[in-house]
Amino acid sequence: MEKDHISELKILKDIAEILNEGTNLHTMLHDALLKLLQITDLQTGWIFFIDKNGKHEMIAAQHLPPALLNKTAQPMCNGSCWCVDRYMDGRLQKASNIMECKRLEDSVIHEWGDTHDITHHATVPLQAGDERFGLLNVAAPHKIHFEQRELDLLGSVALQIGTAIKRIKLTQFQQEVKLIEERNRLVKDLHDSVNQLLFSINVTAKAGSSLAKDVQLKETFSLIQEIAQHAQVEMKALIWQLRPQGLENGIVSALKSYGQMLGLNVKEQIKGVSVLPAVIEETLWRVGQEAFNNCRKHAGTAEVHLNVNISKEQVIMKIQDSGNGFIYSASAELPTLGLKTMQERINRLNGKLSVTSSIGNGTVVEVSIPLS
Ligand SMILES: Nc1ncnc2c1ncn2[C@@H]1O[C@H](COP(=O)(O)OP(=O)(O)OP(=O)(O)O)[C@@H](O)[C@H]1O
Ligand SMILES: [Mg+2]
Repeated sequence: MEKDHISELKILKDIAEILNEGTNLHTMLHDALLKLLQITDLQTGWIFFIDKNGKHEMIAAQHLPPALLNKTAQPMCNGSCWCVDRYMDGRLQKASNIMECKRLEDSVIHEWGDTHDITHHATVPLQAGDERFGLLNVAAPHKIHFEQRELDLLGSVALQIGTAIKRIKLTQFQQEVKLIEERNRLVKDLHDSVNQLLFSINVTAKAGSSLAKDVQLKETFSLIQEIAQHAQVEMKALIWQLRPQGLENGIVSALKSYGQMLGLNVKEQIKGVSVLPAVIEETLWRVGQEAFNNCRKHAGTAEVHLNVNISKEQVIMKIQDSGNGFIYSASAELPTLGLKTMQERINRLNGKLSVTSSIGNGTVVEVSIPLS
């Protein structure tokens, strides 16, 4: 076999070993990137995860030049660049492209630091089947051209990385399903056993109190009844936290009672009937909860519309208020957790989140999650 071929196979084998063993996404990508740089003559590399709205997050990086590390890697976190733009508009499909780096160009203009003579990078999309996760970028000093052979090799490495990302995400998903199932089992047990026992203590103590002639005994029974009642209330709260009340009647009913508890007037509409997978139901519940919390905290109105539309392909949930509204940009980094967590939950299920709002015109939060 040709020497080049053997060394390429060795690179693929070494990286495959790291990717196969990995169970933690960050560590695995970090190690795979390091290995790639060690065994090629490339100097720096980084991986961006990109969500459906085009928002990128640097998930791993190795040996970035000072220019890109300026202000705790701000140039890598903010601003647009050509590789992410091309990835989003579909021009970056499978081939690896070499392009001038806008982040490095900006850093030269703003004098952010040494670029280590890096001006260009190769860009490869990370994907598995038709699922896309982001980009792998690699570069070396003075390197403005990558041979087709090098790009092909990077393409193969990117394919391996994409498959490993999918494997880890699938495992995380299965763990989440298990967790929900376990929580549901716990709720059922608590409800059927402990809750019923507390109820019995309550009733028995009440009977004891009314039958007892002795004042002290009467008081003791009353106290037991009071404690049992208190424990029942605590138990209810615990059960609610573990699994929302009414979820057995569907997500709409659960969210409606949650909204009512917050003092909102929820007008609900549901189209299509189907039992949703537990993970999807859980996500809709958490996202809906946050949207209702936001209505109560920020919208300045108690009127909220909740629409859920379930078809064979997807479930769409829309929460709309006609309140204060706000200025929202999907690509801007938010200092708050609510909307960010919503986005993360939806991403995990390959869904889409859209927030439409403007001052004085209310807010619409729309979520769609594929059911396949
Ligand atoms: N329905 C709404 N009506 C008006 N403004 C809203 C609405 N939803 C969100 N906002 C605005 O968007 C901001 C971000 O919302 P987000 O839920 O991320 O944060 P938060 O509610 O302020 O804090 P938390 O992290 O506790 O959720 C809010 O601070 C608020 O200004
Ligand atoms: Mg919030």
